Amino acid sequence: MTTLGTPLSSSATKVMLLGSGELGKEVLIALQRLGVETIAVDRYDNAPGQQVAHHARTITMSDPAQLKALIEAEQPDWVVPEIEAIATPTLEALEAAGTVRVVPTARAARLTMDREGIRRLAAETLKLPTSPYRFCDSLAELQAAIDGHGNGEGLEGGEGGVGGVGYPCIVKPVMSSSGKGQSKIDGPAAVAKAWDYAMAGGRVQGGRVIVEGFIDFDYEITLLTVRAQSPEKGMGIQTYFCEPIGHVQVNGDYVESWQPQRMTPKALAAAQHVAKTVTDNLGQGVDGQPGGMGLYGVELFVKGDNVWFSEVSPRPHDTGLVTLCTQNQSEFELHARAILGLPVDTRLRNPGASAVIYGGVDAAGISFDGIDEALALPDTDIRLFGKPESFVKRRMGVALARGSAGSTETDSARATAKLAASKVKPRAA
Ligand SMILES: Nc1ncnc2c1ncn2[C@@H]1O[C@H](COP(=O)(O)OP(=O)(O)O)[C@@H](O)[C@H]1O
Ligand SMILES: [Mg+2]
Repeated sequence: MTTLGTPLSSSATKVMLLGSGELGKEVLIALQRLGVETIAVDRYDNAPGQQVAHHARTITMSDPAQLKALIEAEQPDWVVPEIEAIATPTLEALEAAGTVRVVPTARAARLTMDREGIRRLAAETLKLPTSPYRFCDSLAELQAAIDGHGNGEGLEGGEGGVGGVGYPCIVKPVMSSSGKGQSKIDGPAAVAKAWDYAMAGGRVQGGRVIVEGFIDFDYEITLLTVRAQSPEKGMGIQTYFCEPIGHVQVNGDYVESWQPQRMTPKALAAAQHVAKTVTDNLGQGVDGQPGGMGLYGVELFVKGDNVWFSEVSPRPHDTGLVTLCTQNQSEFELHARAILGLPVDTRLRNPGASAVIYGGVDAAGISFDGIDEALALPDTDIRLFGKPESFVKRRMGVALARGSAGSTETDSARATAKLAASKVKPRAA
């Protein structure tokens, strides 16, 4: 049974978000609606989520001492990581000591903050299909991994066994997100440049990289997967799937998404199998206790009936912003409800699409013109995140467009979302 208290009183149910960007902001709004007391943490002041929470705290979340001190001072019931760059061993220690519950689990946060942790779990432990890959610590190792000689270790994933990753391939720092430091290598001439780019773009200096064989997919999806309490007595935690979300990435960053992405029944079944397998594992509670409740974004590549696991976020996914206009409960409401042990409804209400609004300028306190023109387009909506500082390629907002209920067609919503996004003109104030 779930009991919720009154915020700012001794009965309060308290949730702390670690990372309070645009995704955290929507989770916080969903929690606020249920009368949960919220603490929004970020590395800079006035982050989007801090503007809608009861309490705002600014710390370096990758610093174990700062993180531990804050959690002990605030004593939240739940800690919800929204970003990857967190001192996850600290979360594991606090979770093991029973000080706090981490969403979905501290282990899931640790494994997914590093491409190596989650890739080895998915491909080597769970035997899920992935691109062929190798981890490398130097340019020489990278070249050897591509060519198929060197340290004698077999190639992991994909067809496995012999040979190198080959060309084309993709190099990514193991500690990075949103495409940072990531590049495609089409031939030998581009290897050194890709290595240097990865070294400059990783979250930590001199880090390792993963090199992956390039998957020539037909399309890629995010399969939002929810582990939540079943409303039926005695059923415990159940896994629920949202309709697949299709998306387009440019340089490793999402620019538009739509839902539903049409799939063959075989590909959908394979995608759900992969998502269930990986979330069942990441959701394993401490000491075998049931746990790991929350929403996960499972990224998959699809070609015909074939599906490859790419990566997973144990939290709402940026491409899932589209669910703000397509589902009965957005991915943010689903996450909030699952965390609190409440039943969820993953049904699609109508098809729809999202298109990213970029800053376009490097400036603080920017203004946006053309919101009225964007919203004059039928069945559209806009979210402006309220980020205090804009960069040319920083995501500052998103345009949403709804299709007609009962249809699964998304082309018109995609066109409308992109048109609406283009009407919004950010400028230095
Ligand atoms: N092995 C691959 N083959 C083909 N495309 C890939 C591969 N790896 C990544 N990509 C493309 O790059 C995007 C970003 O890669 P991803 O591993 O998801 O990094 P990030 O953690 O930055 O999101 C993917 O969504 C996909 O479009
Ligand atoms: Mg990704």
